[in-house]
Amino acid sequence: MKETVVSGIRPTGKLHLGNYFGAVTNFVKMQYDYNCFFFIADLHSLTTHPTPQDLHGYVRHVLVEYLACGIDPEQSTIYIQSDVPEVAELYLYLNMNAYMGELERSTSFKDKIRSQPDNVNAGLLTYPTLMAADILIHKATKVPVGKDQEQHLEMTRTFGNRFNRMYQSDLFPEPHAFNYSDNLVKVPGLDGKGKMSKSEGDGNCIYLSDSPEVIRKKVSRAVTDGGPTEENQAKPEAIQNLFDLMKIVSPTDTLNHFDQLYNQCAIRYGDFKKQLAEDMIVFNSPIREKIEEIAKDTDYLRKVATEGAMKAKENAQKTIREARELIGFKTF
Ligand code: TYM
Repeated sequence: MKETVVSGIRPTGKLHLGNYFGAVTNFVKMQYDYNCFFFIADLHSLTTHPTPQDLHGYVRHVLVEYLACGIDPEQSTIYIQSDVPEVAELYLYLNMNAYMGELERSTSFKDKIRSQPDNVNAGLLTYPTLMAADILIHKATKVPVGKDQEQHLEMTRTFGNRFNRMYQSDLFPEPHAFNYSDNLVKVPGLDGKGKMSKSEGDGNCIYLSDSPEVIRKKVSRAVTDGGPTEENQAKPEAIQNLFDLMKIVSPTDTLNHFDQLYNQCAIRYGDFKKQLAEDMIVFNSPIREKIEEIAKDTDYLRKVATEGAMKAKENAQKTIREARELIGFKTF
């Protein structure tokens, strides 16, 4: 029997290169070898209180972009999280055995306290249990995600194992973060520090739907420095980040060429950024064209979402029936 894979993305706008290389490219490859469930995490996105109008638009964007990246509804189950309320039911059960201390220690929670101090809600605190429910509801063993999600996977294993111990069962297998390369990926942003992330602003991200003009403008504004002053010196973070981006989108020869120029103190950042932008455009263009095409086809999107919801629900209901029985809920 094929192993089961689950992964999801929060609908907070458009997908960027971080989402693509951290998660989506792995999803796309995995769908041919595994039993795959890919969903749009609209329940998770409620922690930041999107307006009803925005929420639907964001969900639509992610659905279109999943399909444009090559996730094939004939191979995998694509669904919207809120269409499968069984997930919310499992979330409730897992919350009964998730402890304040462990939830408060999660890095993502601490980050959120810093970034949105006026909106530290219970949904943020229990974000890891909802994510565990997403994964455990399908009994997944592999979860294609970026490096930033590693701790959530560890917490998912803790919650699943705790449930199993508590009810003396083996209902939930242990899921692990997955990437086809040896390591989980962290794609840097354009602001010179840290990962590509929408919460750091649109200027920090290259979106899959960005036009060539927008990409050129964003890359030209990327943070650099005064240039190397000694041969073969280590690269500061901002420069290393741009090289890491080039490694993802450019041919190896191009990367080596600029690396050599840097090491010889002969690099001109203007040329380097121009090349990076052009290679990003070459990478993005076929996806952007597909996004534009699929976005027009509302009937197709409706069909994918409806069929995906049915398949995901059927699987989720089996797990919920088993969980309810173990917990001791019985019908009279
Ligand atoms: P989200 O929406 O923040 O990100 C979606 C996916 O993109 C990856 N990612 C990155 N990878 C590498 N470099 C980056 N700069 C970068 N930015 C984002 C994330 O690691 C993620 O894989 N909690 C999840 C959504 C989720 C989920 C799940 C995932 C909810 N339930 C169950 C897997 C299984 C999240 O916030 O992703």
